[in-house]
Amino acid sequence: MAQETPGWEKEGQNVLEVDHLSVAYGPVTALTDVSLEVPSGAITAVLGANGAGKTTLLRTISGLVRAKEGRISYGGAEIGRLAPEQVVRLGIAHVPEGRGVITELTVEENIRLGALWRRRAPDYQEGVATAFELFPPLADRKRRLAATLSGGERQMLAIARALAAKPEVLLLDEPSLGLAPLVTEEVMRVISRLARDSGLGVLLVEQNASSALSIADGATVLNLGRVVVSGKAATMGDSDELLRHYLGLDESGGRRKGGK
Ligand SMILES: Nc1ncnc2c1ncn2[C@@H]1O[C@H](COP(=O)(O)OP(=O)(O)OP(=O)(O)O)[C@@H](O)[C@H]1O
Ligand SMILES: [Mg+2]
Repeated sequence: MAQETPGWEKEGQNVLEVDHLSVAYGPVTALTDVSLEVPSGAITAVLGANGAGKTTLLRTISGLVRAKEGRISYGGAEIGRLAPEQVVRLGIAHVPEGRGVITELTVEENIRLGALWRRRAPDYQEGVATAFELFPPLADRKRRLAATLSGGERQMLAIARALAAKPEVLLLDEPSLGLAPLVTEEVMRVISRLARDSGLGVLLVEQNASSALSIADGATVLNLGRVVVSGKAATMGDSDELLRHYLGLDESGGRRKGGK
């Protein structure tokens, strides 16, 4: 098993590294030779259209899907062969596409479930208290069923639940999905604050390139499972060709495709 205490000390050091990763579902190739780095205290965006391989990347890091080739290292230790529960206990929390909130449970119960996956002994009280500090609107609704929350609140709850595991790395799969633009902005602000204030390394998967680039430090664009371009997020939004061809954005920066 990988070491209990990750081997990085300095903020900005790579906490997670993906090297030459290739993944297939039977005959369907989903990722080919993908490499990227996630520094602590920063946001790394992975952008790409439908089917680009974004979810597959996160599921492979989480141990839900096995890679065919390549290496995933966390704090310098290889984690590519670990089971999902080992990966989360080491400090990598995953907020899945569609959020994965359990609607039949209350807000507080959802957060308590997240605290089960802490690296050391579960401390429900601390996990719940931290989540409510970060997301005060959830504290007001703690005894309500998650089913009664708005889309934005559910996304906050999904993030709060992941944070209750006290991760060092947060994997976010399309947090803006289905949210109105103003709510998306609020969610992006929260994610940005988390990375800056707590030193969390965030891997942010988004089809919504303009929102993700507005808070990301680095970005990688995937197309049909391959890295098309990778670099600083600040310069990526300048490339009209990139945005049009791979990210489904029109010239005004709006999204061409509806729905997702
Ligand atoms: N369980 C699966 N079995 C077979 N093929 C799959 C499976 N999951 C994904 N794929 C295929 O792998 C490729 C990458 O899919 P993936 O879901 O990772 O893309 P994505 O970038 O997350 O797309 P989206 O933006 O629609 O969420 C696609 O060709 C998809 O059809
Ligand atoms: Mg996806």
